[in-house]
Formats: sequence, C-alpha cells, structure tokens
Amino acid sequence: MSVLEHRLLPDTADVDSDGMLRIGGCRVDDLADRFGTPLFIYDEQHLRSRCREAVAAFGPERVVYATKAFLCRAMADLAYSEGMLLDVASGGELYTALAAGVPASACVMHGNNKSARELTMAIEAGVRHIVVDSFDEMDRIEAIVAAGAPAPEVLIRVTPGVHAHTHEFIATGQDDSKFGFNLANGDAMAAVRRAASSPAMRLVGTHCHIGSNVFDASGFAKAAEVMARFAAPLDLPELVLGGGLGVAYVAGEEAPTIATWGSVLLDACSALGVTSRVSVEPGRSIVAAAAVTAYTIGTIKDIPGIRRYVAVDGGMSDNPRPVLYGSGYEATLAREPFADRTLESRIVGKHCESGDVLLSTAVLPNDAAVGDLLVTPVTGAYGHSMGSNYNKVLRPAVVFAASGSAREVIRRETYDDLLATDVFTPAR
Ligand SMILES: Cc1ncc(COP(=O)(O)O)c(C=O)c1O
Repeated sequence: MSVLEHRLLPDTADVDSDGMLRIGGCRVDDLADRFGTPLFIYDEQHLRSRCREAVAAFGPERVVYATKAFLCRAMADLAYSEGMLLDVASGGELYTALAAGVPASACVMHGNNKSARELTMAIEAGVRHIVVDSFDEMDRIEAIVAAGAPAPEVLIRVTPGVHAHTHEFIATGQDDSKFGFNLANGDAMAAVRRAASSPAMRLVGTHCHIGSNVFDASGFAKAAEVMARFAAPLDLPELVLGGGLGVAYVAGEEAPTIATWGSVLLDACSALGVTSRVSVEPGRSIVAAAAVTAYTIGTIKDIPGIRRYVAVDGGMSDNPRPVLYGSGYEATLAREPFADRTLESRIVGKHCESGDVLLSTAVLPNDAAVGDLLVTPVTGAYGHSMGSNYNKVLRPAVVFAASGSAREVIRRETYDDLLATDVFTPAR
C-alpha cells in the first residue's frame, strides 16, 4: 500500500466531492484548463503561514527571505508584506524586488562574484546590507565609493568550516568552498580588519550559510557556536546565520519546523552569550511545500521486463533538481490524489536527454492513463527559479490560489517570448 502522505501537500489541499485535488479551494483540473500545464500552483495561505511562522520565531526584520528559492514580483510583495526582508543574490533579483515596490532598505545583497555593475546598482539603490564575499569585491566597493557613492553597510561572509549534511553541490559552509572568507586560514579575520578600517565600508556584522536542505538542526547549532566564538570579540550588531532548513520531499522524511529551527538557533546563541541581533535567510522552508506542479501525461511506454516510462509535458526545464542532485519527489494523480499507488514507473519529461527524469522510481495509481493530470508535490523551491528554456520549451505559468480563486503571478511564456532576445538579421 503506497498512498501519498497528506502532509506533503500544501496546507489547504483537500479533495472535491468527485475526488479531484483542490489547492486553495481551486480544483486542479480547472486550473489546468484555465492556465495550461505544466503549471506551478502555490497555496497562498501556506506561503503566508510559513512567513508568519518565521517572523514569529525570529522577530520582525530578523528574517530575510532567500529569493533564489522562488521569485516574482508577487512573491517579493508577499514576503515583504508579511514582515520579511529579502535576500537578493544578483542584479536581476534586486531589480525584481525593487520592481515589486520592496524598498532597497529591505534588500540584502549577496553573491560570490558580484560585478561592479551589480554593486553600483545595490549601493546607489541603498540596500540594507551588502554581504561581502571576497577581497576582490572589497576592491570594487572601494572603487565605487571613491567615485562618489555612499559607503554601504556590510557583513562579512564567513566560511565556518562546518560541513552541512546535504548534497555536495549545496553544502557551502565547509573549508573547500567558493563562498566567503575562510575562518580557519585567517582570511575571515583579515576581511573583518580590512572592512573595519576601510572608509568605503561600514562594517556591521558577520554572516554564514552552511548549506541547503539541512535536516539535522545540530549542524545549525554548531555553526552558531563557531560564529559566536568568532564574532564575540568584534562586538558587531548583526549576526546572520544563513538559511538552509530542509523540507520533507518524500514519505518518511522529517524536517524540523521553522519554529524548532528558531528555538535551536536562538537558544544556542543565548547560551553562547551572543549579544548581536541574530537573523536568518530561509528560502526553501518558506516556499517548497507551498506548491505542486501539475503536468499532463502524454505518453506511457512499457518495456516488458525493464520498466514503464510515463512522460509528462515538462521535465528538467521546470524542475532540474532531480538531474542536478538526484533529488527525490512523490507523484500522484490530481483526480484521486490519495489512491493506492502500485504502478511502478519512471516519470520523465519531454526533453531530448535520457537524463530528463523527474522521478526515477515512482509509484502511480494503477489506472494512470494518457491525458491524466499528474501532480508532483513540494515543488515550490528551486524549480521555477532554476528552470530553463531547454529545447525552447516554454516556461510554465505560476498561480497563487487562495479562498477558491487563483491569480496568475507569472504567465506562461509564448513563442514570441523565445525570440524577444534573439537578434537576427537574415543573411539573404
Ligand atoms: C547565502 C544564502 N542564504 C540563504 C539561502 C537559502 O537557503 P535555503 O533555501 O536552503 O533556505 C541560500 C541558498 O543557497 C544562500 O546561499
């Protein structure tokens, strides 16, 4: 017996009288008819409730939503209106947040290789903090300020030497990392000294981020301990302990809640005598479980003795995580989400890659058929934001569903969109 666990679906998920899955009171088949598939369906109430849980756990202006997890203007506006600041890691993320009406003073600029253009944009806009990642970046900030810009408030990103137990591509706190200043070899202290003595930077704190999709809260406590020891003699007002709280993607996985993460971190900090204001930067834990992706099954191919392939109308272009990290997901049918699933299948996309796999080994209800709406839960983080146009497949629409109505927050791309940046002069 394999039935989808209800907890993997967004908070408001329920079924209509005929068994159809509803999110935010909206039937998935109605949304698919209206907006097409693939379709990202976010439960707006779920998003707001995770934002509120984080702000309640850490305090106002202490939670910085990591927009890389999922960003559009509606999301920036929602997070900001729920009392969060925004972590932006590129000029494009900053541009989007500002375009949503989020003030620059609520944006924190990240990135391990910020260009002079991005730094100028951030400084001129007046972002809250710049999280400085390298000595080369300090050179660029000094040049920008020497040319007349105001000296920004900065945090120093420290690589604390704490290995988060997660996939190597998303572990960032270990010594061997492209991010930040290494604590063990003295770079972090050298960076602090340089920032403190430079007239181009106003040093206000330190920062670390040990990795993403971390399930073991003790890793965060360990990072807090290392950072507290490093930051104590500096006596700076801000200490940012990053994001990284994991979420359950598949049956049997258990992740700490945001509230538990808050108490582990804040208890550790108060036991360590931290007097700085402690902030965090959650991304995945705010948005991942808030969304499902709805696809239409287009082909089913049985290879006797080998396996069954179920192909949907999206794939690695809307969810590259399985290909990048071997990430696991669950799948079910929208028309009967809690049906017993016994049909072993590999769920694949429509791209010209054998590696275009969404679920390597899935189970689906036995009567899954071409034309069915297939739903993958927990696809709200690093799906749309990491997506691509591979094969010139159109990026899907995104809707926010609440109280029985859905608003489109990102429309589906059109073929004209594909040519919008294509500069072409016919040769003949
Ligand atoms: C500096 C920083 N902060 C926050 C995050 C968000 O992490 P998560 O989505 O796992 O909470 C990331 C993710 O890569 C990050 O690099």
